[in-house]
Amino acid sequence: MKFAVIGHPIEHSLSPLMHHANFEALHLDYHYQALNIPPEHFQHIRDIAVEYDLDGFNVTIPHKERIIPYLDTMTEEAQAIGAVNTVLIKDNQWIGHNTDGLGFVKGLIDHYGDLHNAKILIIGAGGASKGIAYSLSQQSKHLVAVANRTMSRFDNWQFEVQPYHLSDIDNIANQFDIIINTTPVGMHASTDQVVALKQLKKDVLVCDIIYIPAETAFLKSAKARGYRTYNGLDMFIYQGAESFKFWTSKEANVEVMRQCVKNRLYS
Ligand code: ATR
Repeated sequence: MKFAVIGHPIEHSLSPLMHHANFEALHLDYHYQALNIPPEHFQHIRDIAVEYDLDGFNVTIPHKERIIPYLDTMTEEAQAIGAVNTVLIKDNQWIGHNTDGLGFVKGLIDHYGDLHNAKILIIGAGGASKGIAYSLSQQSKHLVAVANRTMSRFDNWQFEVQPYHLSDIDNIANQFDIIINTTPVGMHASTDQVVALKQLKKDVLVCDIIYIPAETAFLKSAKARGYRTYNGLDMFIYQGAESFKFWTSKEANVEVMRQCVKNRLYS
């Protein structure tokens, strides 16, 4: 079978490495490649998929919404989130799915345990936040809280969350068991923090979906104050594992995928 990730730019994607590690571990003669498709060529996406004989592909920045008009159907998750990161091509039918939120939540459950009673606060209300909030809202009995600096971002959300303005965070943060930064603040070499968290619950888990660097300033400051922390590496691994499952109905070897990405990034 043949797979790809389409994005622009795409040369730094670790998805080919990660998926090939999984194929090898499962003794599958499959192939996965990165395809750089600029927005002005996107209208040819169906021809491109035929040319590369794809059975499925991942979609990344900046095409997660742009892909939607080219699909035949979408899963419930993808519809609710309004963005697609995985496409299955079967009998010339294109089925759009979203594994980003599910990926984060799978990793979080491994790390934290059952989420049913957890009160969760998400910082940021962009595409990544929406996927995570949707998947979390399927797990926790509490309404998921989302804090953002621009309240109009919540206008087109198709499922219920508890919206807050980012400036309210000091008043509410100590109610939550899990706090997740989904904004890009702190990525790469930046030492910025989206907010400086003040009083928190003693056993709170502070998360960041960023995994480059392994520890953002947000996580560093939480750790320095004795809180548990969790980065976004598992989200990347599990979104890939869930895409693989969507394409093949097989379970991925998550351990092998995680190890090869960790070796590439952190050693
Ligand atoms: P993604 O798809 O990666 O989630 P996005 O859709 O552009 O990216 O969303 C980025 C999110 O990070 C938004 O919630 C954005 O807040 P606004 O809606 O107010 O723009 C948030 N964000 C980005 N930079 C930020 C900053 N410096 N401080 C606070 N929030 C920030």
